[in-house]
Amino acid sequence: MALKHYLTSSFLLACLLAYSCQIFFFSPFSPDPLELPPVSSSFLLPPNNQLQGVIKLGEGFLKGPEAICVDKEGILYTATRDGWIKRLHRNGSWENWKMVKGRSLLGITITKEGDVVVCDTEEGLLKVGENVVSVLTSHVNGSRIRFADDVIAASDGSLYFSVASTKYELHNWYLDVLEAKPHGQLLKYDPSSGETSILLDDLCFANGVALSQDQHYLVVCETWKFRCLKYWLEGENKGQTEIFIDHLPGGPDNINLAPDGSFWIALLELTSEGLEFVHTSKASKKFLAAFPKLTKLVSGVHRKAMVVNVAADGNIAKKFDDSNGKVMSFVTTALEFENHLYLGSLNSDFIGKLPLKVA
Ligand SMILES: *[C@@H]1O[C@H](CO)[C@@H](O)[C@H](O)[C@H]1NC(C)=O
Ligand SMILES: *[C@@H]1O[C@H](CO)[C@@H](O)[C@H](O)[C@H]1NC(C)=O
Repeated sequence: MALKHYLTSSFLLACLLAYSCQIFFFSPFSPDPLELPPVSSSFLLPPNNQLQGVIKLGEGFLKGPEAICVDKEGILYTATRDGWIKRLHRNGSWENWKMVKGRSLLGITITKEGDVVVCDTEEGLLKVGENVVSVLTSHVNGSRIRFADDVIAASDGSLYFSVASTKYELHNWYLDVLEAKPHGQLLKYDPSSGETSILLDDLCFANGVALSQDQHYLVVCETWKFRCLKYWLEGENKGQTEIFIDHLPGGPDNINLAPDGSFWIALLELTSEGLEFVHTSKASKKFLAAFPKLTKLVSGVHRKAMVVNVAADGNIAKKFDDSNGKVMSFVTTALEFENHLYLGSLNSDFIGKLPLKVA
């Protein structure tokens, strides 16, 4: 019995070693150190835990509502981890609207025509109508679009969307952070030609995408670069890029235009207190890549929630948080609608609703 036990454990140890060696020496995972940028002094506001005061909408009915959009009639849509697009009617009742399948639905938007467009991290961009779900685009420049993350529709019909990583997938997204090499893209789908093109390449986990109020530029967030870029669509700088905001106090996830022309950005806690060294240590990163479940300890996303309101000039106006993740953590989106903020999260089974004080 003792011998058998010994053999079993030796075998397991050998497997573990072999597995780690393979990861250490032959894996395609090749990390760079990630220098965590200092947080800009204007963001060093004390915690206010205002997100602990949210009203919970659809509690128990919504599995990981990552993104939210609202149509012309004021109906709110979200895509959940069980493959549903669910919606909240004006009268407060939730509806399982359309089953898309999979667990891979992220960013969601409404076109001028009223169609729902959603990012599917396996298929590309999907159009979801009353009667049919169709794939709008699944390839760019001959490659499959694998990790479409967020999408926004312009008034000319163009769809701008991000690909978080061309190397990793939704289930192992944190490896992209650990590898710290830019695999993200900003793409454009032109419905008149049916073509999809690459506007920006080599982004550091391209995440939220939002259009400015005049649609002269868009903002795309780079999660592990702790910044968002402005990409000009019109005017003399057309096609050029500049920094919209950097040195954010967390990794920017989704970004949404507010009615006053400012933006709401959800920020992810990408590091765990006391484990920040992991981001500058290649050996630690390789170890984590061999045991991806451990990344949950390091990432910190489940420990906190934070959203900021940033004016069009890049100045921070407001910050709301749940500094210890008591009510909400891993908040991925903040959408303002009729003086309320709607908060989606990959770690909640509800949408948080926070009244905004009218000045
Ligand atoms: C709320 O509105 C929806 C859409 O009009 C309708 O289908 C539903 O029955 C209504 N629910 C209640 C409780 O009135
Ligand atoms: C498109 O694909 C070609 C061939 O694979 C490659 O050489 C080129 O760099 C790609 N273009 C972009 C913008 O990625």
